[in-house]
Amino acid sequence: MIAMGSDHGGYRLKEAVKLHLEKKGIDCKDFGAYGEESCDYPLMAQAPCKAVVAGECELALLFCGTGIGISMAANKHKGIRAAVCSDIFSARMARLHNNANVLCMGGRVVGEGLALDIVDAFLNSSFEGGRHARRVGQVDALDA
Ligand code: RB5
Repeated sequence: MIAMGSDHGGYRLKEAVKLHLEKKGIDCKDFGAYGEESCDYPLMAQAPCKAVVAGECELALLFCGTGIGISMAANKHKGIRAAVCSDIFSARMARLHNNANVLCMGGRVVGEGLALDIVDAFLNSSFEGGRHARRVGQVDALDA
């Protein structure tokens, strides 16, 4: 199960990604926003991040205008490793080396076609472990 969340700035891209994943038969849990009314990204990050930390969802995809604000909010949650990505390579490496469990994107930054490829790269990549596990552990220890 993939958690999804956005503010108004990321709403449209979230909807496009949700449709893309549904067509692929990937289960999504959409925690809102459910429209384009203005809302606050720090609040919208909370439920998807809690779902990941609780193990209810494997990964989360979060969207705001730039991807920056919602990633900052996500990374305040213990156990969350959120990466803002606007390219495919970074999305793949965020999983392979950083064991990112949240992908953030900006609805005002990334076009829909590229965003779908970024999401696919993120979801189809897995953590390599090894030396990267030590480093990710060191990152996680910062909020212990
Ligand atoms: C909302 O206008 C905008 O500030 C927000 O979506 C996001 O880009 C913040 O980082």
